[in-house]
Amino acid sequence: MAKLNIVKYGDDTLRKVCRPVEKITPRVITLLDDMVETMREANGCGLAAPQVGILRRIAVVEVEEGQVIELINPKIIAFAGEQQEQEGCLSIPGKWGITVRPEHVTVRATNRFGEQFDVSGSGLLARALCHELDHLDGKLFIDHVIRYEE
Ligand code: NI
Repeated sequence: MAKLNIVKYGDDTLRKVCRPVEKITPRVITLLDDMVETMREANGCGLAAPQVGILRRIAVVEVEEGQVIELINPKIIAFAGEQQEQEGCLSIPGKWGITVRPEHVTVRATNRFGEQFDVSGSGLLARALCHELDHLDGKLFIDHVIRYEE
């Protein structure tokens, strides 16, 4: 495993729309492993492939320690409710703001074994899922901020 460099705000990569993964190659598996390591080293609860310079629809989320969710070609298939909570991003260090997100989301994705699965989350997990999926479409949390924290 290797720790990857995290692309910072201002780099065009963060505003690009990522391409789907067509085949789960050993490179994709290595990328997932490296993304998990990079997220943990940075004390983040999520990381998307464009944040490490790869324009593919891949993200990892770990809201509860040891419970990594690896997402390949993820899509939100259901959402409900609303929450307004604090959010930040490893690509925008030092900046925190209150965003509006759904309270509950269900995401359908493929895992590293090529199997489709659904994951549902509320609260922080819902926020993290929305945040990471946004990255795959070139969107950042600052696009959703209603006010910044001092
Ligand atoms: Ni982010």
